[in-house]
Amino acid sequence: MSRGSTLNVMAMTRSPELGERITPLLAAIDHVRAETRIGDLHSVNGELAAALEGVDVLLVDLDANDERELGHLGEIIEQRRGRTAILATARDLSAQGVRSLIRQGVDDFIPQPFELPDMEDAIATARAKLQQARAGRNAGQVISVTRAKGGMGASTLAAHLALALHEKRHRREPEKQVALLDLDLQFGDLSLMLDLKPSAEMAEIIRDPARLDGALLRASMTQHKSGLAVLPAPGEFVPLDALPAAATVKLIELARQEFDFVVIDLPLAAPRWLEAVLQQTEQLLLVSQLNVAAIRQTRRLLDFFRDEAHYELPVSVVLNRYVWRLSERGRLRQAIRALGQPIDHFVPDDPRLALEAINRGTPLFELRRRAKLCRALRGVAAASLKVVQERAQPAGPSAQAA
Ligand SMILES: Nc1ncnc2c1ncn2[C@@H]1O[C@H](COP(=O)(O)OP(=O)(O)OP(=O)(O)O)[C@@H](O)[C@H]1O
Ligand SMILES: [Mg+2]
Repeated sequence: MSRGSTLNVMAMTRSPELGERITPLLAAIDHVRAETRIGDLHSVNGELAAALEGVDVLLVDLDANDERELGHLGEIIEQRRGRTAILATARDLSAQGVRSLIRQGVDDFIPQPFELPDMEDAIATARAKLQQARAGRNAGQVISVTRAKGGMGASTLAAHLALALHEKRHRREPEKQVALLDLDLQFGDLSLMLDLKPSAEMAEIIRDPARLDGALLRASMTQHKSGLAVLPAPGEFVPLDALPAAATVKLIELARQEFDFVVIDLPLAAPRWLEAVLQQTEQLLLVSQLNVAAIRQTRRLLDFFRDEAHYELPVSVVLNRYVWRLSERGRLRQAIRALGQPIDHFVPDDPRLALEAINRGTPLFELRRRAKLCRALRGVAAASLKVVQERAQPAGPSAQAA
């Protein structure tokens, strides 16, 4: 399966009614060839491998109380070896039941009743999973940066992470390339931070995602004077959900093909396409600060990622604008307890340097390379590089599971 190529989907439904509901929805999705079978997993018992030959996505309507059927599902998951993505739907399944299916290796769950956008999202997730599994280690690695509240310093981190990776790779392996994507479509200010023009082509991609290919992606990107390739946010205001999940998958997949490292600055809100980005992310950096509101929001976001079943996604917490004071040790301990996980990185507060960088549209590294703030940011980059490289060798856990 290559990008944008047709996905063969087999839907297996317990009732003809559900089959009649699913068939037109699948038919309405671009690049999908669907076949609907009425039956349950028992009905293909013994000829499962043959039934799944050539099937990219199996969409199965489960009876979650049927232990034997869940057993068959487990067998399919074991045998698929990255060839088939598995989507499940079921009536009245508890949140715990959904989590257990995802843990078992089901790629996405579609709650009933569903509409076309639910089906599109699930197919986009399946496509992303398959691509991740099939591209294996040759694809570029994705590090996404987010924050639980506005103004935490996520864009500063994303930009300098990409710049540090670019410098590192450039010196040792000049052929390796780094891309920085501003997916904070509405409020993204990486272009301001790096003194670049907003992307007119990005607005074009959002208007007509079908046109997106490697050439258009390259044309949409600008080069920072360091040589870093940047996809700035569009210059005009666009609705966050204007970018379909399938187009987001394609955008990141193309970036992974063209670059060795892809750093993504995410929006504060959770658009429908967030899931597609997280599916393709090797490491997520969550930027916070040491105050009650930020820590509480950060904990909420960590819980959200866990509830959305991103068990395998390494999430590192970065505490930005940190001022070390002996008297604050208690507050720090409280924060770690509230987060329920350690703080991985501390980035010092340096408002003067940060302000000068913003005002001049110049990276911090160019102003005072040896400042503590710059050293801390390079430290986060080095640690992230280690995390993604460890995940890539041998094949990452999601690639094994898929
Ligand atoms: N370590 C730091 N020390 C001092 N100021 C900082 C530091 N990191 C970021 N800032 C400043 O904080 C402000 C917000 O940073 P940034 O835009 O990176 O945050 P963000 O989380 O991306 O915000 P938004 O939610 O608006 O996208 C900027 O003015 C930036 O210069
Ligand atoms: Mg930002």
